[in-house]
Amino acid sequence: MKYEIRFLPSEITTRAPEGTTIFNAANWAGLAIDSTCGGRGTCGKCKVRVEQGNAPVREADRKFLSPGELNDGWRLSCRAVLHSDCVVDIPRLMGNPKAALLGYGHHVILNPNVAKIYLELSEPNLEDQVSDLARIHAALDKEGYDVRSNLTLWRSLPNILRGSNFQVTAVIVGDELIALEPGDTREKNYGIAVDVGTTSVVCAIVNLNTGAVEAVKSDLNRQAPFGADVISRVSHTMFEKEGLVELQARIVETLNALLEQLTAQSGIARENIYEAVIVGNATMLHLLLGIDPEPISVAPFIPTITQPVTFRAADLTPDASSRTPRHPSTMRDDASPHPSPYQGEGQGVRLNPEARVSTLPHLGAYVGADIVAGILATDLTRNKDGKLRLLIDVGTNGEIVLGSVNGTLATAAPAGPAFEGAQIKNGMRASAGAIEGVTITPQGVSLQIIGGDVEPLGIAGSGLVDAVAEMYRAGIVDASGRMIRVEDARGKLPDALVERLVTIDGVRAFRLTDVESNIVLTQQDIRALQFAKGSIAAGVEVLMQQMGVTANDLHEVLLAGSFGSYINPASARTIGLVPWVPVEKIIAVGNSAGEGAKIALLSFREREAANRIPEFIEYVELSGRGEFNDIFTDALAFPKLTNDERRTTEEPRVMEIASSVVVGPSS
Ligand code: FES
Repeated sequence: MKYEIRFLPSEITTRAPEGTTIFNAANWAGLAIDSTCGGRGTCGKCKVRVEQGNAPVREADRKFLSPGELNDGWRLSCRAVLHSDCVVDIPRLMGNPKAALLGYGHHVILNPNVAKIYLELSEPNLEDQVSDLARIHAALDKEGYDVRSNLTLWRSLPNILRGSNFQVTAVIVGDELIALEPGDTREKNYGIAVDVGTTSVVCAIVNLNTGAVEAVKSDLNRQAPFGADVISRVSHTMFEKEGLVELQARIVETLNALLEQLTAQSGIARENIYEAVIVGNATMLHLLLGIDPEPISVAPFIPTITQPVTFRAADLTPDASSRTPRHPSTMRDDASPHPSPYQGEGQGVRLNPEARVSTLPHLGAYVGADIVAGILATDLTRNKDGKLRLLIDVGTNGEIVLGSVNGTLATAAPAGPAFEGAQIKNGMRASAGAIEGVTITPQGVSLQIIGGDVEPLGIAGSGLVDAVAEMYRAGIVDASGRMIRVEDARGKLPDALVERLVTIDGVRAFRLTDVESNIVLTQQDIRALQFAKGSIAAGVEVLMQQMGVTANDLHEVLLAGSFGSYINPASARTIGLVPWVPVEKIIAVGNSAGEGAKIALLSFREREAANRIPEFIEYVELSGRGEFNDIFTDALAFPKLTNDERRTTEEPRVMEIASSVVVGPSS
């Protein structure tokens, strides 16, 4: 059941499910409510006046509000839960809240989960015999923080307090006092946002006081030697006795190596990094946590955890003794062929020793926390314009989300490794020497190569999409994906293109470079691309059919992920990877998962919104749908070319454009 809530004086109206707090509903509607406790009911700052609707008085209301205020309808918005439609007046904020622009034009009001509070405590004496711990808790209570603390902190108290003349900075993460630091250290307050991909890992150090990204770096996931995709990683945990520990060690090692570089580059001490928000697909996060991912890979595809979780960074310590092998009889005992340099220092991910790690929720086994982060960053489920958007994260698995504030569907389509350059004769990852863009003219082929003026070494996913789209536009392949025979091409295609048609081991191919570099696209490569794009296009079609919409209803198509960001929108449309919409509606949104992680790191309210995203999304499992195969078969072909797209030697307009392009073999 959803209720309508109208906010005054802004006159913004939103709908939220029963049980949502007014505080969260306002946040989802982009309205700032004052708070220092992040909605935990302990600061008393979030009061609003409920002018119409049902908002019973709660215990916390009595603590912070006078009987007169309660009578007038004032409530703590973080405790007031929706049980009816209502009208709520939000008082103007005292001063402008700090904000940062992140994600896809997402304005984030800074409200991190980490708070650093400077305390000047009175020293105990014979008249004031309050214990150290009680003294700290009382001072924090005055500041509006009702916190828990633990044995590690208690052990540090006597020395820190007396060594600093009782002037300390309390570090609070969530509702836990995790550390006390001598003196005033409020300026040094950092967190990390991490996107753990199957191929690469991106980590950013973020200043929690200002929202600024201090340093960012990506590196290959050091699990790569165990297989390029999630299935091979899961297989390793199934068949190697130490496989799970080994893979957990590799990802922890990747993170620690990134942190090493980031802290050196930024001069930020790891002791001042108090929180990490980590997103990734379900398998990657299970491996990071050291949880057996096997159930994710076999029907009925059940992850152990889909909820957001929080734990100590130090607890991410790979430890074989704590694991129970699932299938001892099928496991090999031999030493791993991939010995890890990780020495197991017993510190997990090396941040502040008491730092916390939080993850975002997964929607299902194959639509993970990285996509939830992407939805957060693109505002897909909350955009007040109510317009329909399609988000596609293109990779080995194409994750697809279709929706608006009025309802959202999500699915995952198995695309195979073609977009990553695998199973393509001259395919390679997007790194120096990879062809990332292709233009075909009647005079020849021009290439864009990563690294600029370097010898081409192979073709990356974006180059593959571009090349096939260009070959289709030029008539080198037809709508079924069949490459033209040399004898049919003569007289039909320009000589400069005909001479690039070759046969390799009986398979037709088209040479993209000069003979020396000899980088070709074969008929089989085109079939692999058709399979990959057909799978994603079919996933999109299933969602559109289920929602009863067509491409005409799409306001925007958002391409996410490192591959999605480099893909040429027009080429993606030409091969039918995305529905036919005007090119300007196809937008690369970059690493939306990493952006979402930053947003969740900088705003506890946004994190809560992210944690609730699964409630607003229906997950559609493609494998259970009878019509999928038919839709997939139809989606293998390339869509009919428009006149603007078609390139033939007879069209003078195209010839004019062609003559302005650099022509000839890649160089
Ligand atoms: S009491 Fe702090 S936000 Fe409600």
